[in-house]
Amino acid sequence: MSTAKKQYKRITVKSLVEMKANKEKISMLTAYDYTMASIVDGAGVDVILVGDSAANTMAGHETTLPITLDQMIYHASSVIRAINRSLVVVDLPFGSYQSDPKEALRSAIRIMKESGGHAVKLEGGKEIKESIKRILKAGIPVMGHLGLTPQSIYKFGTYTVRAKEEEEAEKLKADAKMLERIGCFAVVLEKVPAKLAKEVAESISIPVIGIGAGNGVDGQVLVIHDMLGMTHEFNPRFLRRYLDLHTEMTNAFKAYHKDVKSGDFPNENEQY
Ligand code: KIV
Repeated sequence: MSTAKKQYKRITVKSLVEMKANKEKISMLTAYDYTMASIVDGAGVDVILVGDSAANTMAGHETTLPITLDQMIYHASSVIRAINRSLVVVDLPFGSYQSDPKEALRSAIRIMKESGGHAVKLEGGKEIKESIKRILKAGIPVMGHLGLTPQSIYKFGTYTVRAKEEEEAEKLKADAKMLERIGCFAVVLEKVPAKLAKEVAESISIPVIGIGAGNGVDGQVLVIHDMLGMTHEFNPRFLRRYLDLHTEMTNAFKAYHKDVKSGDFPNENEQY
């Protein structure tokens, strides 16, 4: 079901819709810099998200709110320089699209022009419909993001599972259909019940990429620092750690520190 059905030289927004139609699952990871992006791209991951989670992972902020458009463009252009195959989607940061559609379009154009990104992602449903329409009208592909939308964390109050109650679930379903109708090429569903996510994925023709949304959706995304085990204090149920880099790196740094202190590094073969 989820093995590659077709070889893609380059992933485009059309490839993702085709993958869904062919029942091929879509892989997506975040990346924020050149070196990491080149490894992710070389490993064959379909989509790289230059997420505003860079505010947390790269800059140490508690929320995603402080990251600026200029900073997102810096991260995205570093990622783009590494890419041969993956589709690169760039988050529009908080404050760069909420006030009106013209501002949203200006921000999206800056991302596309100054970073070379292939698409943008915006958080929210009908509240930002006009902004999304305006961006799409300019020929810029848009990925939606529903469920837990971290840019609204102060409205929610916590990072717990969203749309458990019927009213919120109904709104989410309507928003997903609206995003499909106006022309988004995919939607991220974050931290919602698996049953609801599956229902949404089955009700629309564009791919639904889940994070904490179960296995009934069309693809998965994880934050790269989490799946590599660098952020060892972050333990949500949905997270699968593929490495324990926090421990591996700590051991490497300790060994280096010890070798420098003891005079063991550099040895004769490590000098000119
Ligand atoms: O910014 C981000 O990393 C994201 C993912 C969690 C989907 O939006």
